[in-house]
Amino acid sequence: MDAFVIEGGQRLRGRLRVNGSKNSALPIMAGVLLTDQPVTLRDVPDLSDIRNMVRLLGELGVAIGRETDTEGRPVFCIQTIDERASHARYDIVRTMRASVCVLGPMLARRGRARVSLPGGCAIGQRPVDIHLRGLQALGARISLEDGDIVAEVPGGRLTGATVFLGGANGSTVLGTANVMSAATLARGTTVIECAACEPEIVDLASMLNAMGARIEGAGSPRLTIRGVESLSGVDHTVIPDRIEAGTFMCAAGITDGDLTLDNCPLDALMAATTTLDAIGVSVEPIGSGDDPMRRTCRVRRSGPLKSAPITTQPHPGFPTDLQAQFMALLCVAEGNSVITEKIFPERFLHVAELQRMGASLNRQGATAVVTGVGSLHGARVMASDLRASAGLVLAGLAAEGTTTVNRVYHIDRGYESLEDRISSVGGSVRRVKPEPAPIG
Ligand code: EPZ
Repeated sequence: MDAFVIEGGQRLRGRLRVNGSKNSALPIMAGVLLTDQPVTLRDVPDLSDIRNMVRLLGELGVAIGRETDTEGRPVFCIQTIDERASHARYDIVRTMRASVCVLGPMLARRGRARVSLPGGCAIGQRPVDIHLRGLQALGARISLEDGDIVAEVPGGRLTGATVFLGGANGSTVLGTANVMSAATLARGTTVIECAACEPEIVDLASMLNAMGARIEGAGSPRLTIRGVESLSGVDHTVIPDRIEAGTFMCAAGITDGDLTLDNCPLDALMAATTTLDAIGVSVEPIGSGDDPMRRTCRVRRSGPLKSAPITTQPHPGFPTDLQAQFMALLCVAEGNSVITEKIFPERFLHVAELQRMGASLNRQGATAVVTGVGSLHGARVMASDLRASAGLVLAGLAAEGTTTVNRVYHIDRGYESLEDRISSVGGSVRRVKPEPAPIG
């Protein structure tokens, strides 16, 4: 397993382009199962999760070709050529929980689906009960066999219904994606209450509508979906990754750097940029720019770093996927910050690793108190999940000395060539192969 070796203390200066969003691309790729017409997807990032989705779709009868556009960006040409398969196997699902988003599209189009039940993961239990509840409300018959969700649609076509998709921690993003996608081909009208409002749901809805679906209300907690007979092909560009953008913003702040970010989805980052402002990191849009999801902005400190309270919430609240990166930033800010995790209350695996770098952190249940220290020091640390790993890389960039982040395959799931991109703006991050085990 590769590791990153980071020499801390370099200020990041220069320009980075924010890539297409992983969490948008994954349900969008699954949505391709809703049609047998050709689909073109642009700006899909080159990540291991995306490669796993390509593998999964391949097993489900979807042909995917990869080209590059005139600017060298990836273009996926996708078409379903065989609709007989319906099994998303454990081997793939266990590597990527987002595999569950093929469930709704397969049920809607093929009338049946067998998807391995995703297990727990490093950030918590992550049940899919609400996905199943929503699909059952549309008429799917669902059982659990040998660890697989086995679902079928009596009569072959789902039926619209009014469904409530709220849970103990609010709405569900992939649950909304699953039920919304399934409802596009249902007979009659579906109303989803307590739908996730995340920009990735808006992106999925806008692609489905361009394919002929009739979805209203995307971005609000109430979605109305009028079912249609079939969906056509589409040419769609995935929105930029708000979490990657937020991570780069924290990188500029923690290194006292000066980064210009292109293709930045500022409109989706209000909670993060408002918090950065309170911490002492300014995010300044450059030029007028027509599209608030694709702006250019300059990120640098506006003064000494200060403490700030953070509570993660469903969008438009502060995103859980930026909690670890902001914790790293607050570790070197003046004063005490209270961070409360309301989406995944166990998502604190980075705490113990940051402590190894000299951070002063005190966790009680779903809350961590960060007491700013003057500086962190390099250490050997272990990546545990994608965003925790990103937090450790940020800490390493700011730390005195050398930090080795082990198990960076977690980072490769969600950040494309992170070491090269950080190095291109002056950071020192090297990927190293694991040392061979001693013989004998
Ligand atoms: C998506 O996961 C993202 N993944 C996650 O990003 C992100 O952290 C999460 O949304 C929250 O924003 C993708 O988009 C691929 P949820 P998802 O269903 O949809 C509970 C990253 O780092 N819940 O919105 O699986 C659940 O336990 C990843 O890029 C149920 O109780 O998350 C949690 O407390 C990690 N029952 C809350 O809802 C269900 O059936 C929100 O989870 C579903 C969810």
